[in-house]
Amino acid sequence: MIYLDNAATSFPKPKSVQDEVISCIKSYGGNPGRGSHALSLAAADKIYECRAALSELFGLGAPENAVFTLNTTHALNTVIKGALRQGDHVLISDMEHNAVFRPIYRLAREGFIKYSVFRTFPDRPDLEDNILSDISAKLTPRTRMLVCAHASNICSSVLPIRKIGELCRKSGILFVVDAAQSAGHIPIDFHLLGADAVCLPGHKGLYGPQGCGVILLREGLTLKTLTEGGNGVNSLEGTMPELPPERYEAGTLPTPAVAGLLRGISEVSRLGIDSIHRHECALYEYARERLSELDGIKIYASDRVGSVLLFNLEGKSADSVGDALNGAGICVRSGYHCAALAHKTLATPPGGAVRVSFGIYNTLADVDTLVNALRTIKSL
Ligand code: ALA
Repeated sequence: MIYLDNAATSFPKPKSVQDEVISCIKSYGGNPGRGSHALSLAAADKIYECRAALSELFGLGAPENAVFTLNTTHALNTVIKGALRQGDHVLISDMEHNAVFRPIYRLAREGFIKYSVFRTFPDRPDLEDNILSDISAKLTPRTRMLVCAHASNICSSVLPIRKIGELCRKSGILFVVDAAQSAGHIPIDFHLLGADAVCLPGHKGLYGPQGCGVILLREGLTLKTLTEGGNGVNSLEGTMPELPPERYEAGTLPTPAVAGLLRGISEVSRLGIDSIHRHECALYEYARERLSELDGIKIYASDRVGSVLLFNLEGKSADSVGDALNGAGICVRSGYHCAALAHKTLATPPGGAVRVSFGIYNTLADVDTLVNALRTIKSL
């Protein structure tokens, strides 16, 4: 089996991650923050170690500003709904995943906010200035937040988030980054970025298990809470604690997922994010070259090089190609990838497209196998 769906979740997980999850379940997985017995304290230590590892990897500063959520979507909902007020205007990009688009769309439908979509020109290189001008043109006196994906989940388009962050700071608006497809793939320095919040998954580029997401929160930013409940802090009060992380962590944390994530971060740090990025770019460039040998293939945003490649084969639906690849033992994701806005921007046909996404365990030989399988599928 060849796994080329790392944008959905990385697979396999490193051996150290697998071992840590088993060890947590077997040996120390008490409920963190809920008691003073040995197993609760051991779990709490692991959670803290993981906050510290995230803080170091992303240059966050205080580990307490690394908040655990269920996943990236939960992280984005927590930030978006916790920060926005009635009458605000929000800017999002034309490459957003539904994790950003749907919460914004719902708030707008209910008349709570208004939003505009800025253009990112994913099919045309070197257009940073155009992106920034389009954002500037769409700012209004009511604009309170810009939220955008760092890297697309359907192609290798990456937004100039440092420059967008500078523009947000100059304009006095909140800047929220969806790093679902960039964390672990592209270096991110929280302070250089100047973001108010960066939301990311544990189970993609950081190689943790499914079950937790993360908000990296700017020091001093306080949001309304999305969920309320117990966390072992200020238990006699009717309100959530004022400070992160507990303010945003209601209910039991997924300790096995967080403990596994800690080992995933160690593995990513050992390899180095720059080196992971180079590996994925090399695979992309090789795949683009080999796939271009096939007649009737369309590769979208093909001059953007990274871990995600999107294509269609003339005369075949995306799902039929995805199914046929599965039959050949190759895992890809076809369809719309929960990213209606991005598919519209790339003008994919009805049915969407086929996505191949690379990770640390993929090789050039995997690409050769993919190309050979597609050659057979084309001839059917
Ligand atoms: N957001 C994930 C993907 O792009 C699940 O496949």
